[in-house]
Order: sequence, then structure tokens, then C-alpha cells
Amino acid sequence: MTIPSEMKALLLTGDGYTRTPSGSALEAMEPYLERGTVAVPTPGPSQVLIKVSLASINPSDVAFIKGQYGQPRVKGRPAGFEGVGTVAATGDEPYAASLAGKRIAFATGLSNWGAWADYSIAEAAACIPLLDTVKDEDGAAMIVNPITAIAMFDIVKQEGEKAFIMTAGASQLCKLIAGLAREEGFRPIVTVRRDEQIPLLKEIGAAHVLNEKAPDFQATLREVIKAEQPRIFLDAVTGPLASTIFNAMPKRARWIIYGKLDAEATVIREPGQLIFQHKHIEGFWLSEWMRQFRDRRGPAILEAQKRFSDRRWSTDVTAVVPLDEAMAKVPAELAKPNGKVFIKP
Ligand SMILES: NC(=O)c1ccc[n+]([C@@H]2O[C@H](COP(=O)([O-])OP(=O)(O)OC[C@H]3O[C@@H](n4cnc5c(N)ncnc54)[C@H](OP(=O)(O)O)[C@@H]3O)[C@@H](O)[C@H]2O)c1
Repeated sequence: MTIPSEMKALLLTGDGYTRTPSGSALEAMEPYLERGTVAVPTPGPSQVLIKVSLASINPSDVAFIKGQYGQPRVKGRPAGFEGVGTVAATGDEPYAASLAGKRIAFATGLSNWGAWADYSIAEAAACIPLLDTVKDEDGAAMIVNPITAIAMFDIVKQEGEKAFIMTAGASQLCKLIAGLAREEGFRPIVTVRRDEQIPLLKEIGAAHVLNEKAPDFQATLREVIKAEQPRIFLDAVTGPLASTIFNAMPKRARWIIYGKLDAEATVIREPGQLIFQHKHIEGFWLSEWMRQFRDRRGPAILEAQKRFSDRRWSTDVTAVVPLDEAMAKVPAELAKPNGKVFIKP
């Protein structure tokens, strides 16, 4: 494969973290990114250079480009945490070299060199050689959400209770978890903010779907919690919604925060519940899980590939936006519900 000296990319315009946090929506690209040309990078010994076929846009990417993710920005570097592509060059270390020419899913968190570009750099350890049966759209969204879905459903299973609660129920991640739950007889209670998402979520495995905007939401929530006694609360929203849910949950409830889609302050309504009812609040971050549960990583990756291959899982696609048009088109596409937006170099 002939590798050019320069490439097109969406480059970060900010450094480090923001001092003025904002919401989770992407109102425009310009304050955070610019389309530019940079030198094609050279992989280090443990890294690979990837010719990017498709790169996904996740809420973590939006948080990152805004400078409000758990990792600092580097001005002038491409953004984008994951994608799919072909390995065009490798470092000298044996595992990196073994990936030469392969079609892989990759994550860029460790290399800090993003996927929204013609070429990207990833640590070989953060690459997954793909089965031919995995489509590019699924491959480009293979790591962040699918592995998190498997990891968080492991937590639900370990706790033992069949019922559990999820906010942002119509997210790609919750839809993957709902599928896992249905197969194993678990009963997800999910919240959404649009009535039209209720039938779809019931169909894919949710036992209860509650619209957080409905006037009777709090009463319905209390009834469902009383009947189902869920102890695990997987929360991507935080803010007043999560405070209400946690407050209504029974003793020994675990509130696991893995996203912060609502910019409003999150209040612990009744701190006494942490003291006298043994309720807990904790966080989940895939990067940390990958470091902690190395033995579970390989099986989880294989499981995700099999599920995408046999269509038990599939990635809902809202739009595939050419890199050259991304600055103008991405915010409007991201504002549409029910699917993922991809960038195609
Ligand atoms: N901690 C980790 O390791 C980790 C790993 C993977 C993902 N995540 C997090 O998981 C969450 C879901 O990711 P995804 O890629 O699956 O998302 P996604 O498919 O892009 O969907 C986002 C969902 O969030 C909902 N939402 C957005 N803002 C909201 C708000 N203010 N209040 C209530 N709901 C809101 C949207 O509702 P509508 O449908 O109504 O628009 C949509 O259903 C994100 O927060 C992401 O950062 C965390």
C-alpha cells in the first residue's frame, strides 16, 4: 500500500480541558475542530498505522472535543476515538507486525491520535482483527459500546437480581444491553424521552419503558420499582432524572454512573440512604475495565463479533458523512435520534 506524506483530517482546535463546560449536544463543529491537512504519522514500535474506512461518532467524542472528557486534548491532532480500517504500516513489535494488511476495528484512546482522518494511529493492543462477516458499520462501532455492554451486563448478572434500571434507554449501548438481557431472562426497566421509542424498546427486550417527560413518570416509576425491586441502576444521564430514580430504589441499590448526558447538577436527595440503607454510588469507565479485567477482554471481543456476524446485534445508522462535508453536516445528523453517525474519509 502506497502511503502519502500528507492527509486530510478533522483537527482539534483546543488543548487540554475546557474551563467553561457545556451540555452533551454538539451545537456546531467550528469551535472545537477544523478541517486541515497534516503529515501522515509514523507508528511507534507497539503501534499500527490504519487506512481508515469508517469512523464512528460517540457521545464520548463530543465530550472530548469540547474538553470535558477524562483525557486532555492535544491541539492540531485529529479527533475520533474509534473506527474500522486496514493496517497500512506497523511498528517492529511482534504483535503490531502481525496485524499488517488486516482489516481491524481500532480504538485510539491509548495513542491519542484520532480516527477522523484518512489515516490513524492505534496501539496494536487496542486493535481487533475482524471476521469477514462483520460489516464496516458494526466494525467501526465495535469497541466502545459493545464491550461496555458486555462488561456492564456482567455486573448485572453478578448482582443476581433479574430487574435493573437504565437511563438513555434508546441509546445504541442500552439497545445492545437489552438484547443481552432478553436472551438471559433479565428484566430491564428503561427510561426514554420520546413516546415513539417505547414499542421498539419493548420489542428488543425492555420489560418496562418509562417516558421521563410523562406527567405520571414519578408515580409509574415508584410502582414499577415496587413490583420489580431492581438493585442495579446503569446511568448515562445523571441530573434530576437520576436523582429521582436512585431515591426511589430499594435498599442496597447500586447507582453506576457511566455517562453525563444531562449538564444539570446531580443531587443526592437523601444522603441518609447511603448510611442506613447501604446504597452505593460508583462509576464505570471502559478504559479502566480493560485494564482491570484483562482475562475477560478477549472473550468479550469474540462475543461482540459473533453477535454482529449473526445479526443478534446490529448498529443502527443515522448517516455516513464524507469527511469533507463533516464540518457542515455532522451537528444536524447527530441531533437525529435512534442511530449512529459515521465519518467516511
Ligand atoms: N463510561 C464508559 O466507559 C462508556 C462507554 C460507552 C458509552 N458510554 C456512555 O454511554 C452513553 C450512551 O452512548 P451511546 O453511544 O450508546 O449513545 P447514542 O446511541 O448516541 O444515544 C444517546 C442517547 O442519549 C439520550 N440523551 C442524550 N441527552 C440526554 C439527556 N440530556 N437526557 C436524557 N437522555 C439523553 C438520547 O436520547 P434521544 O433518543 O431522545 O435523543 C439517546 O437515546 C453515553 O453517555 C456515552 O458516553 C460510556
